[in-house]
Amino acid sequence: MFTSINGFRCSFTDAGNGQTILFVHGFPLSRAIWQPQVEALEKNFRVITPDLRGHGESSAPAGVYTMDVFAADLQALIAERKCGPVVLVGHSMGGYISLAFYRKFPQSVRALVLFCTRATADTAEGKSVRENLAQRAEREGPVAVAEQMLPKMLAASAAARPDLVEQVRQMILSTSLNGLTGSLRGMAARLSSLELLPKINVPTLVVAGENDAIIPTAESAALAAAIPHAELAVIPQAGHLASLENPGAVESALRAFLEKNCSVSL
Ligand code: MLT
Repeated sequence: MFTSINGFRCSFTDAGNGQTILFVHGFPLSRAIWQPQVEALEKNFRVITPDLRGHGESSAPAGVYTMDVFAADLQALIAERKCGPVVLVGHSMGGYISLAFYRKFPQSVRALVLFCTRATADTAEGKSVRENLAQRAEREGPVAVAEQMLPKMLAASAAARPDLVEQVRQMILSTSLNGLTGSLRGMAARLSSLELLPKINVPTLVVAGENDAIIPTAESAALAAAIPHAELAVIPQAGHLASLENPGAVESALRAFLEKNCSVSL
């Protein structure tokens, strides 16, 4: 499905009935990372998964995609679909967006799932790595981003699953140039959300991939510890893309959290 919001054409799926779970993918990916979770949960929930601007099948306006820009897109989609408040699940950059969203629109969030993500801003070195990558992408195209990011996305055990590696490579390669550069520059500009964490007052689950090379498990544990009453779920045999690498364990962790916090029996 498509809708026009905030000056771009947003591609999304909207399936099932009941309380809404809004799944937000990371960089430079698409809603396809949530396909196993959509299939598992649409029987009990309404599940909405957008392609962020510049990603997947959504259109790609020029500009810096700050986390606030993405958050405003999500709020426009929620208003258009008349589906809030939502259980907001954000993977990696989607988690940065979820924290920006919670800061601006707390009334639209019923519960939070921070998935292989962090609350800190980029270091000075991290910002310059992003700018260099944005400039390489402008010269060489998405292949430069695939070369740099793909080796960190999946756990080493995924080498035995060439189809999965190829699926992720294709997702990166089909991200638009505006999506790549706009997101890299937007992530570099993002603020720390550390001061927000003790103020989060909705049920929160932090999900970590046991072998995540981008977000170490210890960092996810510290994130959970900083949020009142947050729970931590560590997904075994998974790296940064736990939703695709170990969908069964992710489904169990989400179901346990939703059953406890959304008054549904699954
Ligand atoms: C992501 O998966 O969204 C990115 O790895 C996040 C980042 O580069 O900080």
